[in-house]
Amino acid sequence: MIASKRIWLVGGGSGIGRELALKLCAAGNQVVISGRGLEALQEVALAGQGNSAGDDKGGKIFPLVYDVTDDEHSKAIALEVAALVGGIDILVYCAGRCEYVDDAEMSVELFRRVYEVNVFGMVSAISAVLPLMRREATSSYKPQVVGVASLSAVVGLPRAEAYGSSKAAANYLLNALRVDLDQHHVDVTVVNPGFVETPMTETNDFPMPFIMSAGAAADCIISGIEKRKRIVNFPWALLLSLKLGALFPALWYGFIGPRLARRDASVKT
Ligand SMILES: NC(=O)c1ccc[n+]([C@@H]2O[C@H](COP(=O)([O-])OP(=O)(O)OC[C@H]3O[C@@H](n4cnc5c(N)ncnc54)[C@H](OP(=O)(O)O)[C@@H]3O)[C@@H](O)[C@H]2O)c1
Repeated sequence: MIASKRIWLVGGGSGIGRELALKLCAAGNQVVISGRGLEALQEVALAGQGNSAGDDKGGKIFPLVYDVTDDEHSKAIALEVAALVGGIDILVYCAGRCEYVDDAEMSVELFRRVYEVNVFGMVSAISAVLPLMRREATSSYKPQVVGVASLSAVVGLPRAEAYGSSKAAANYLLNALRVDLDQHHVDVTVVNPGFVETPMTETNDFPMPFIMSAGAAADCIISGIEKRKRIVNFPWALLLSLKLGALFPALWYGFIGPRLARRDASVKT
C-alpha cells in the first residue's frame, strides 16, 4: 500500500475520489483534496480523521477548494498544496464531468463544458505541478502524475460524443506526456475505469454492464499507482468487450453499436 506520500487529489469530494482519499489517508498518506464544494471536501476530511491512525505515521486529509476551470490560479493552488504537505509526490487528477448528447444534437457549449473539466482542467493541474515535481525528481525519486480517464475512450459509444472523446483526448495526452517525462524522472499513469457507482452514474437510465462500487474502483487505482503501472484498465470483462468492438469495427459499428443507441421516435423507417 502507498504510505507516507504527499498527494494532491483533484476531485476528492465525491465518488471515486472520495474513496481514494479515505483509503490513502487510512494508509498513512497526507492527502490534499480539491473540488469546487468546500462542504463536501470538509466532510471527506472529517471522515478521514476517524480512519487515520492519529499518530506521527497517521494520514491526514486537507480540504482545499479549487475549480479546475480557473487555470489562472492553478499554479498558486499547486504551491499552496506543496506548502500544506511539504511537496507533491503524486498528483491524482480525478475531476470529471459527464454530459450526454441526445439525438445527435451537437452543441459546442456542451462539448466545451465537458472538455473544460476532462481535458483543459487536467492540462491546467498537470502544468501547475510539473515544475515542482521536475525540480525534485531524480532517478531514485520519481514523482507520479495519475489521470483518471475512462474505458468509454476505447470505442464509439452512443450519446458519448463529448464525454468519450474528452476521455480519449485525456488518454492520448497522458500517454504522450509519459514519453516526454521519462528523461525527467516523472512517471505517468492513466486510469480507465468502467462503470462505477457514484453520483456521476446514479441518474444513468441505461444498462451499465459489470458496474462496480467506488471502493472497489479505488482499490484498483491504488494498486495501479503503487505498481507504477502505465495504464490501469478495469474491470477486465468490460475492457475485453469494448476491445473486441474496436478490433471488429464492422461488427461494432454495423450491428452492436446502433442497437445500443437510443431509438428516436421521429426517425422515418
Ligand atoms: N462513475 C463512473 O462510472 C466512471 C467511469 C469512468 C470514469 N470515471 C471518471 O472518474 C472520475 C471521478 O468520477 P466519479 O464517478 O467519482 O463522479 P463524481 O462523484 O461526480 O466526481 C467528479 C468529481 O469531479 C469534481 N469536479 C467536477 N467539476 C470540477 C471543477 N470544475 N473543478 C474541480 N473539480 C470538479 C467534482 O467536485 P465538485 O463538484 O465539488 O467540484 C467531483 O468530486 C471522473 O474523471 C470520471 O469521468 C467515472
